[in-house]
Amino acid sequence: MTAFDLITAESELQGKNPRTILKTALAHFDNIAISFSGAEDVVLIDLALQIRKDIQVFSLDTGRLHPETYRFIDRVRKHYGIAIEILSPDYVSLEAFIKEKGLFSFYDEGHQQCCGIRKVEPLKRKLASLDAWITGQRKDQSVDTRGDIPEVQLDAGFSGPGKQLIKFNPLLNWSSAQVWDYIEAYQVPFNDLHQHGYISIGCEPCTRPVLPNQHERAGRWWWEEATKKECGLHGGNVKTPE
Ligand code: ADX
Ligand code: SF4
Repeated sequence: MTAFDLITAESELQGKNPRTILKTALAHFDNIAISFSGAEDVVLIDLALQIRKDIQVFSLDTGRLHPETYRFIDRVRKHYGIAIEILSPDYVSLEAFIKEKGLFSFYDEGHQQCCGIRKVEPLKRKLASLDAWITGQRKDQSVDTRGDIPEVQLDAGFSGPGKQLIKFNPLLNWSSAQVWDYIEAYQVPFNDLHQHGYISIGCEPCTRPVLPNQHERAGRWWWEEATKKECGLHGGNVKTPE
């Protein structure tokens, strides 16, 4: 492993392609993992395995994913012969939350509390054991919340006292079309939901297919404003009004 300097990496990786960003990430960090959602971010796994075979991969099992997504995650595990760590929510907080608010509170109260328990807390737990993580965020996924994110950043939201967590976003500069060209060209497995009008895929009750020419995130938390369509995994993306 070579020493890592964030300022240098930030300027060297600006505008770079996924492979270059992944190479830097994997050259500098051993204790690093890909956060795999079970959607088109599968290309991260495909690319990373060409660089290093012992790559760590984890998925947040919210308990509310589509059956197709669960099947796909397992298909990816077998296809690449890798272990995928599946993280579950804390059952004590989850059971108390459901008892109080039911199974669909997000439609009335917004998704923050449910995402907090089902996604953010398990992610926090996992990230506490890592030095760096890799996500499939892209600029073109949202002008409102992802237009300004960098290729590499200090993850202020999940860094702890005395411990800095670095976050890499290798797909940042690729468009959705480039991701899909790669999937087709290299015969990468994909989630069956993509054949049924789904583009961006999250939990089943909070994701729906989009119409032609609708933006991909229009199908996520469709009852909320575009500027709020972040679940807390990428908390720094949401700017709080001054
Ligand atoms: S979300 O915050 O709106 O749900 P999105 O679906 O766009 O995120 O995915 C962006 C990236 O966040 C993914 O490429 C992945 O790195 C991470 N991510 C999202 N959902 C999950 C999940 N369930 N498990 C692991 N990583 C996830
Ligand atoms: Fe809950 Fe919906 Fe968030 Fe999934 S996306 S954790 S179901 S609010």
